[in-house]
Amino acid sequence: MEDKIIPQHVGIIMDGNGRWAKKRGLPRNMGHKQGAAVFKKTISWCRELGVKCATFYAFSTENWKRPAEEVEGIMNLLRQYIKDIREAARENVRIIIIGDISRFAEDIQADLEEIQNDSCANDGFIVSIALNYGGRAELVKAMRELGELIAAGALVPDDITEELIDKRLYTSEMPPLDLVIRPSGEQRLSNFLIWQAAYAEFVFMDVLWPDFTKKDLEYALEQFASRNRRYGGI
Ligand code: FPP
Repeated sequence: MEDKIIPQHVGIIMDGNGRWAKKRGLPRNMGHKQGAAVFKKTISWCRELGVKCATFYAFSTENWKRPAEEVEGIMNLLRQYIKDIREAARENVRIIIIGDISRFAEDIQADLEEIQNDSCANDGFIVSIALNYGGRAELVKAMRELGELIAAGALVPDDITEELIDKRLYTSEMPPLDLVIRPSGEQRLSNFLIWQAAYAEFVFMDVLWPDFTKKDLEYALEQFASRNRRYGGI
């Protein structure tokens, strides 16, 4: 892929775990378990292929509506994977959690805070994990912060720019989002990085997330490289 244009920041919607499990007559959480294993492998593949940053949609603000047993299963997977995430951080990987984790169990919050702090100077690769994340909630948070500055007399509305909003988003220290990959056949954004995706390319794929392979990632990167991004120009 030497001569190809490689996306700096890839967003991945890890969808299709439930269907993968159902097809095999397994409980949904087995799909999440397999999906978490693919998440781990995808981090290495992204690095090998020259991507600089990857954001994974692991738990949305809407996912709390799922049965308690399924939510608990995903939380337990997260507990297991915290160890792997910590190992990744040792290889010069920076971990950034996007979303509001204050609703998560204390132990998970503490571990994630620690991993983020310990890895904040790493510059080899960024793994960003969206947990209790919603694009609209992220924008509301940014608007509130700007509103507070205005109320305190520190900002006037005319000074609000796209850059100022960008700086208030969870992604402020990441490269711009270039590519969004959604496996599982669904073709929607589902509240994922809605502001950041304004000029991203989209690749929708029929494969279910637990079946996602390095070849699928390579296919998505090839699609990206073949597209002509004009950013509204000609
Ligand atoms: C979407 O598939 C997937 C999720 C809501 C959870 C994703 C979680 C993981 C991959 C594992 C935990 C993550 C980490 C970082 C350890 P779905 O359940 O909506 O699938 P369906 O549409 O087929 O039902």
